Amino acid sequence: MQCCKTVRAAEPSDLDEVFRIEVESFDKPYPRWYLDLLYGLSGGEYFLVSESADGRITGYIVGIPLSDNACHIASIAVVKECRRRKVGTVLLQSLMELCSSNGYSSFVLEVDTCNYSAQSLYISNMFRPIMFMPNYYSWGRHALMMALIGGQPCCFQPSTKGVQSVT
Ligand SMILES: CC(C)(COP(=O)(O)OP(=O)(O)OC[C@H]1O[C@@H](n2cnc3c(N)ncnc32)[C@H](O)[C@@H]1OP(=O)(O)O)[C@@H](O)C(=O)NCCC(=O)NCCS
Repeated sequence: MQCCKTVRAAEPSDLDEVFRIEVESFDKPYPRWYLDLLYGLSGGEYFLVSESADGRITGYIVGIPLSDNACHIASIAVVKECRRRKVGTVLLQSLMELCSSNGYSSFVLEVDTCNYSAQSLYISNMFRPIMFMPNYYSWGRHALMMALIGGQPCCFQPSTKGVQSVT
């Protein structure tokens, strides 16, 4: 299957299919109504889906504009059979390009500390961890906040004492 022929703005009628991907992808998926809320918060414009050559939705990403120049990436997921075929990369880069063209040059997201595949995706797109968030998802399930600030990798630099410091 050609997993990602196009990336386009989601339509409300796509959200049932997006929900199926959400359920397949996460232990604790967002409820269906929350996707409607995210769609509204994204203004529709920043809720993107990837489509296969035969018109199936193979992944989605949603960004929520936060301020004049920052965008929160609220979720991304790809159907299992299309993973590791750059669909996530194309979705992430498409959203970042769209946001950047509208003046949003900084991006933040949260990722489970155990979700190494997603962390690798973000790191390969220049995101860097900026904060550890204990018990963010539930008791014992922690998150990393990662960010890309103004198109530059953010924010830790080794100090002379070998301790990480924020610049
Ligand atoms: C995270 C996710 C969206 C990545 O999508 P994807 O289409 O498989 O990602 P890509 O093929 O674009 O991968 C890009 C890079 O990310 C890293 N990566 C992705 N999946 C990985 C895996 N399973 N193991 C290790 N690295 C991985 C690799 O560096 C990869 O580049 P490479 O294939 O050249 O080595 C997908 O695994 C997914 O839907 N996971 C479940 C939902 C989820 O965890 N979402 C993130 C919430 S924060």
